[in-house]
Amino acid sequence: MTDTEPKTRQELWDERHAAREPIESVEADPSLVALANPMAPGRALDLAAGDGRNAIWLAARGWDVAAVDFSGVALQRAAAAADRAGVKVDWVHEDLLKWRPEPRSADLVILMFLHLPPEERRLVLAAAADAVTPGGRLLIVGHDRSNLGRGVPGPQDPALLYAMDEVVADLAPLVVDEVRQVDHDLGDGRVSTDAVLVASRPRN
Ligand SMILES: C[S@@+](CC[C@H](N)C(=O)[O-])C[C@H]1O[C@@H](n2cnc3c(N)ncnc32)[C@H](O)[C@@H]1O
Repeated sequence: MTDTEPKTRQELWDERHAAREPIESVEADPSLVALANPMAPGRALDLAAGDGRNAIWLAARGWDVAAVDFSGVALQRAAAAADRAGVKVDWVHEDLLKWRPEPRSADLVILMFLHLPPEERRLVLAAAADAVTPGGRLLIVGHDRSNLGRGVPGPQDPALLYAMDEVVADLAPLVVDEVRQVDHDLGDGRVSTDAVLVASRPRN
């Protein structure tokens, strides 16, 4: 690559991950904890797993986890964190715009803070929904569109932010169990809102 070529999204994510402090402790997203705690461990699929905080948390609770990300840097950091935590995760280095999970292969599919343009998001959501087993669950969490203009972290392009009523149609034939907004006090006067959706595949 020459200096004049724009960086790919993958390269930009590698740089972002490389600039981050290594994770000290594995703190899963609270919406995942609330959903997964009462579930019996089975097979889980973490799409856009990043540094692996959610995948590692699931693996430590007995789940058989595959975690996908296109950032090699993120996956190296995630694998090191999994070693430190003494758990095994199947780290999959793939681009979610090209790779497809096996249909009906996971009892829990999670997609946390992946912000894509609508056409790409639809593709990934359809694949995520397809991967859910009968009786299995899908959890999507992302920055809510109401964050716009509040000066909080996350994309500043409305098309990349989540308004969960817009994604429901992309998940059929899954049934949406819950859509909610969760506020986080950032401790400096700002409040950030997460959009959360839980869906499931009917058993018959
Ligand atoms: C904000 S991080 C979220 C990480 C993790 N889900 C979490 O909640 O901690 C977004 C992740 O999506 C990954 N990502 C973005 N686009 C992707 C794509 N097309 N295929 C695979 N991974 C992608 C990035 O590398 C990054 O690790």
